[in-house]
Amino acid sequence: MLCSKRKKTRLISNFICFTGILSFILLYQITFHQADIQPRIISCPSPKQTRYEKTKYIFNLDLWRYLVAKDQLYVKNREKPWCDVPKELQVITNALCQFYGTPSCTRLPCHMIYSSSDTLTNIDCASNGQISTKVSTKRNKKFQCKRGYSLDLFMKDNENQSYPSIIADPFTPITNSFYVKVLHNQYRSCNSMWGMIQTHESLSYYPWSGDREKMKLFDVTFGYDRSVYDFVPPPWLINYIDGIDQTPKRLSLKQVMTNKKPINSPSNRDDYWINQQTNSIQSSYVKASILWMNSNCQTISKRTQYVEQMMKFIDIDNFGLCGTNIRPLPQHIIDLEGSKTRNEQNRNSYNWEAGKLALTSDYLFTIAIENSRSYDYVTEKLWQPLLVGSVPIYLGAPNIEDWLPCRTDCIIDLRKFKTPKDAALFIKNVAKNRTLYESYHQWRNEEIPDKLKKMLKYFSSMRNYSLECVLCEMSKRVDEGQSAKETKKKILDIVGHL
Ligand SMILES: *[C@@H]1O[C@H](CO)[C@@H](O)[C@H](O)[C@H]1NC(C)=O
Ligand SMILES: *[C@@H]1O[C@H](CO)[C@@H](O)[C@H](O)[C@H]1NC(C)=O
Ligand SMILES: *[C@@H]1O[C@H](CO)[C@@H](O)[C@H](O)[C@H]1NC(C)=O
Repeated sequence: MLCSKRKKTRLISNFICFTGILSFILLYQITFHQADIQPRIISCPSPKQTRYEKTKYIFNLDLWRYLVAKDQLYVKNREKPWCDVPKELQVITNALCQFYGTPSCTRLPCHMIYSSSDTLTNIDCASNGQISTKVSTKRNKKFQCKRGYSLDLFMKDNENQSYPSIIADPFTPITNSFYVKVLHNQYRSCNSMWGMIQTHESLSYYPWSGDREKMKLFDVTFGYDRSVYDFVPPPWLINYIDGIDQTPKRLSLKQVMTNKKPINSPSNRDDYWINQQTNSIQSSYVKASILWMNSNCQTISKRTQYVEQMMKFIDIDNFGLCGTNIRPLPQHIIDLEGSKTRNEQNRNSYNWEAGKLALTSDYLFTIAIENSRSYDYVTEKLWQPLLVGSVPIYLGAPNIEDWLPCRTDCIIDLRKFKTPKDAALFIKNVAKNRTLYESYHQWRNEEIPDKLKKMLKYFSSMRNYSLECVLCEMSKRVDEGQSAKETKKKILDIVGHL
């Protein structure tokens, strides 16, 4: 008991005590954002043989994000039938709705409450957390696991004493009120394994999904940052690897140089050796040595501001949506993309990548500034220019050295310059000097560094694993009386280490 129980002063002192605690809590939360995660110790009964054959369920928290986007929940599902949330599940929905400030979650679209074949996805797994392939051997016995998003996965029955495993993602902030007080303390059994997956978005934007204290809630984590997560799924690099690794698809220096377009800049035309290769510069839509094509303009790395500063000192062709001097895309690029209206919200609706790659290959340099500067956060921004032979002007992962395919220089490393002006002047110099420029492509004749080779080996092995299958494997092993931690360790050892 923290507060005084003496009768006379009880009322007033309780008031002071209460407000004191309240402001302490507020202060504590402001200072530390969230009180420390204190997971309850779950006591596990001895395993029953019968449980072994049971299907493993994974609850997909991801879809509950729709609670935030009320429009999604209310508009998209208007036609679908709605149901009352059963009493025993209301604590879950209340916690989520409170967190998101959604007024009431006593009724929801029925499919968000009750599972059906529509809401459940079959996940085929092989042994040790591997994704099942079509050919399954005796040693690699298949088993099935199901992923769903309906709340009834949290309903226990007498026969079925387990709660589902869950997969968390960066978009649902990990809070005590939801994850600890409700899900962990009330809806977690020994064999409900919790997984976190953090790919494709930088930790700078979603810090809670990399918070080591909060990660204690999870049995297994997948994410791009090897210093935080257990497993690192194949990153962006993998999509471009054939052209980066030493394969026949990697462009040679000669191919790279042949692809470059003359720079149609009347004021600077003599500055560029590249113009001496051809006479027909008037028709070229390339007006600068640098290409800039960003669509996400307000970023933690403040790349728009950086590039705008550079533009004061060097010409930059801007075909993106950020900054000034934006130019319309050349017609042949629009044709390649197959879309006149570039819907940035739905990039899959047109082939933006084909257009971007084609345009990039024309340019000596391409701006490659990540949206944030996070460890191991290396995206297509770097790989696309390297793939098609434009030198990336890079700012991003502080450990970019670990990732580069070159032993010497293959990027213009913006960290080396005090100001955008210094960078611009340096780049101007490289653009004028063919020997110097070509040195940035020297890696094309060489093998990739051992560091990167080792990473590629790891990623090729990781292609065979999924978070779902690792979770299901761990849950299955717990049922058999084995330790989840040991199971994870065993899988980590099989995959290898980054
Ligand atoms: C176990 O619980 C899940 C999730 O609610 C349910 O779908 C499944 O039918 C239950 N299994 C048994 C054997 O009751
Ligand atoms: C061009 O760059 C090369 C390599 O860095 C250097 O040796 C050479 O002096 C430069 N040429 C001029 C004209 O600056
Ligand atoms: C991935 O799985 C396939 C099919 O089971 C197998 O042939 C391949 O060797 C595995 N790769 C690695 C790196 O483990």
